[in-house]
Amino acid sequence: MSKPTYYITTPIYYPSDNLHIGHAYTTVAADAVARFKRLTGYDVWFLTGSDEHGQKIQRTARAKGKEPQEYVDGIVAGFKNLWARLNISYNDFIRTTEERHKRVVAQITEKLYDQGDIYKASYEGWYCTPCETFWTERQLEEGNCPDCGRGVELLQEESYFFKMSKYADRLLQYIEEHPDFIQPVSRRNEVINFIKMGLEDLCISRTTFDWGIPVPFDPKHVVYVWVDALTNYISALGYGSDNDELYRRYWPADVHLVGKDIVRFHCIIWPIILMAAGLPLPKKVVGHGWLLLESGKMSKSKGNVVDPLVLIDKYGVDPIRYYLLRELPFGADGYYSEDALINRINVDLANDLGNLLSRTTAMINKYLGGVIEKPAGGSTDPLDQDLIDLAVATPREVERLVDNLELSAALAALWQLVGRANKYIEETAPWSLAKDPANRERLVMVMYNLAESYRFITIMLAPFMPDFPMRVWEQLGIKEHTDLHTWDSLEWGRLPSGIKISRGAPLFPRIDTKKA
Ligand code: ME8
Repeated sequence: MSKPTYYITTPIYYPSDNLHIGHAYTTVAADAVARFKRLTGYDVWFLTGSDEHGQKIQRTARAKGKEPQEYVDGIVAGFKNLWARLNISYNDFIRTTEERHKRVVAQITEKLYDQGDIYKASYEGWYCTPCETFWTERQLEEGNCPDCGRGVELLQEESYFFKMSKYADRLLQYIEEHPDFIQPVSRRNEVINFIKMGLEDLCISRTTFDWGIPVPFDPKHVVYVWVDALTNYISALGYGSDNDELYRRYWPADVHLVGKDIVRFHCIIWPIILMAAGLPLPKKVVGHGWLLLESGKMSKSKGNVVDPLVLIDKYGVDPIRYYLLRELPFGADGYYSEDALINRINVDLANDLGNLLSRTTAMINKYLGGVIEKPAGGSTDPLDQDLIDLAVATPREVERLVDNLELSAALAALWQLVGRANKYIEETAPWSLAKDPANRERLVMVMYNLAESYRFITIMLAPFMPDFPMRVWEQLGIKEHTDLHTWDSLEWGRLPSGIKISRGAPLFPRIDTKKA
């Protein structure tokens, strides 16, 4: 039987500058979900990329004395390096300057024009260059851009407009009939209210700059950057080309994961483009919260940008991924601080997760000569059953939460099991059992339960911290037993008898807060 498919995307980031920890959050979250779905038997396609056109990029390049293409090539190489360092397992990276993308944008624009959904009119509006957005007088806040608060310029141009208003009712009906389409619910309500206030037609071409995809029927104009950008989700699948196998296999997307700042573009403009083009809509758009700093929004000018590469060098990849995924509750904002990061490493990773393994392997060494034995009979002790019940129930719970993109809650559920296993050590007190050889059978049972619990924890954690499992398998002595690393092997008691463990260095050394 063929596997069910799962298509997940991140936003395509602007190469106007290097990426910061906020961008890393979105991509790491999408990666954890992609890895999780692969682990649980899905045929996954995970797309990311770069959104390379627009006035801001053209100006930035010029200010650096470079051609736009040369400039973005350098920055995009930096994106790819960051994703490699963060263990991002994307299947494809789409750049909007690639031919395969430009062709589809032109094709769709032409189709909408031919069917009468695009018309020409004169346009005057307040333009925010950093946000690439036109605003009406009424939308401005104290004369500034309502999104970023920066200054706007009054621009007038002949432009092409897309008849969004024509599709407003159909979109509203679609959103109402598909309660899961926009998540979380707070974002869904915002979008519904916005549409109900009335949709204006969207200005979809520009003549004030030329770093973009030419409008096919009037090449003095370039296509508005959001129409260009959103189309990446299907152009990357080969939509409209002879080679559209990926499109047929993966579209519609299961999840577009985006920050809350761009939910509206994904839940209004994009679905309407697709409706007008006669294509199916994505199944879900999830808008996550922002990672904030005490000092406000991260920006170059404030000099408070947190560079993920610096953090990776300092603390390692798995801890950074864990911190990001754990810190932001679903849909809500969270505050970044290095103290909070160190605290997560020292408490969750070093104390809870790391010590559980080092205590387990130390005791197996000391009391059982370093060999895991499988108990001959079943257990009759309720302490054992309690641990086993939780271990066996956790995979389903984690899977449910990851399906809802509640990644922080999924990790919290996993840590319940980590905590339960640590408590089990206190409750069973193996050091007392070891004093009397008559207790050997009990000791074997306790050690087995701990090792098997750790195997469960490691399998479930792999999508969140991809480097972690190999180090554990080595210490638990089952590195070569790949059949014990799979989701299907999450059946209690699969760990066989006679495994020789090999103790290693602590998985997550404590960070000395004074030195850090
Ligand atoms: O908007 N916390 O690109 P962009 C959490 N090119 N996430 C953050 C964040 C923060 N502090 N800052 C940024 C664009 N993000 C368009 C997208 S898609 C067809 C086109 C994340 O480079 C968040 O996911 O400005 C946000 O939506 C995205 O970066 C914006 O990236």
